[in-house]
Amino acid sequence: MLLQVSTPVGLDQDLEVGLESRFLACPEIEPAFAVPLSDLCEPTDNGMCPMTKAPFSVAGYGGFAEFLARGMPDMSQWYETLFANFGRSYDKEVYTQGTVGEVDFVERELGGDRSKRILDIGCGTGRHAVELARRGYDVTGFDLAEGQLRVAREKADAAGVTIGFQRRDATEPHFDQEFDAAILFCGGAFPLMETDEKNHAILLHAAAALRPQGKLIMTTLNALFPLYHSVKDFIQANEVGSTTSEVTFDLMTFREHSELTFTDDAGVSHTLKTNERYYTPAELRWLLRTAGFSTIDIFGSHLGEFSRDHALTPDDFEMLVVAEKGE
Ligand SMILES: C[S@@+](CC[C@H](N)C(=O)[O-])C[C@H]1O[C@@H](n2cnc3c(N)ncnc32)[C@H](O)[C@@H]1O
Repeated sequence: MLLQVSTPVGLDQDLEVGLESRFLACPEIEPAFAVPLSDLCEPTDNGMCPMTKAPFSVAGYGGFAEFLARGMPDMSQWYETLFANFGRSYDKEVYTQGTVGEVDFVERELGGDRSKRILDIGCGTGRHAVELARRGYDVTGFDLAEGQLRVAREKADAAGVTIGFQRRDATEPHFDQEFDAAILFCGGAFPLMETDEKNHAILLHAAAALRPQGKLIMTTLNALFPLYHSVKDFIQANEVGSTTSEVTFDLMTFREHSELTFTDDAGVSHTLKTNERYYTPAELRWLLRTAGFSTIDIFGSHLGEFSRDHALTPDDFEMLVVAEKGE
């Protein structure tokens, strides 16, 4: 059995564990609460974990059996938990209310040619995909969350359009030069990933899915905003729909960490620790270039009013990017 251990003391690792292993149970080590004793640390005389300083208990075979009986700890990323059953509530969030104007921009970028094939990456509840299909485009949408796709399929049925909605991971290879355009809106997975490598992989695979000169149109978080504004402004800008608190911005990683409280579609309240990456325009340009895009234009993203006329400023919470794939 492979147990992924993520600890606050910098010991992230995958451990091969077996029933014969002895375990250290330490309440400060999360999300896994049991790790092989020999691989981690030796107990000290006073019965405290030398790294976390928390009391530990050593469990042998019986302890591990109990650990298994309690079930493996939840290893899901925060965005998997958030989007598991949130589609209906998601569609009521303030930032999802600009769909028609955003799709108008996509149409302008494609010269109004409705024969174009469009891929919606991290399509969520399919709000852009459905609107594009309604206008006659051939659209494929994919998302990691089955809960989001369920709502997307219902919306496509209600609109009388056919869209190939699929469950896929944008960090893994997907399509090969099949599309004229790809959209990645509202992040559409991009800044949500836990590592820069995964975010970059999303752009690489988006480029691979496009034909030469195909366009990637995306919006993502603008690092100029938290750099330029006071912490107070930054926190207020984040207070949308579901409640966000404990917001911090880490200048070493350009990641916003916060606590998100939301109610899922079944009426159950959850609190999650979230973590999103803000990129500077210069970083994003470099990431896109190394992913295979040549012409890269970056604008300020205005909800429901995407336009090349909006120059990017530090007051824009998100950037709107149009990147064209090279030959
Ligand atoms: C903020 S929503 C944006 C949805 C949609 N693009 C929109 O504009 O409303 C982010 C979406 O990305 C999806 N997602 C997160 N990680 C993903 C991944 N690795 N691959 C595909 N989709 C992912 C989530 O499930 C969620 O539906």
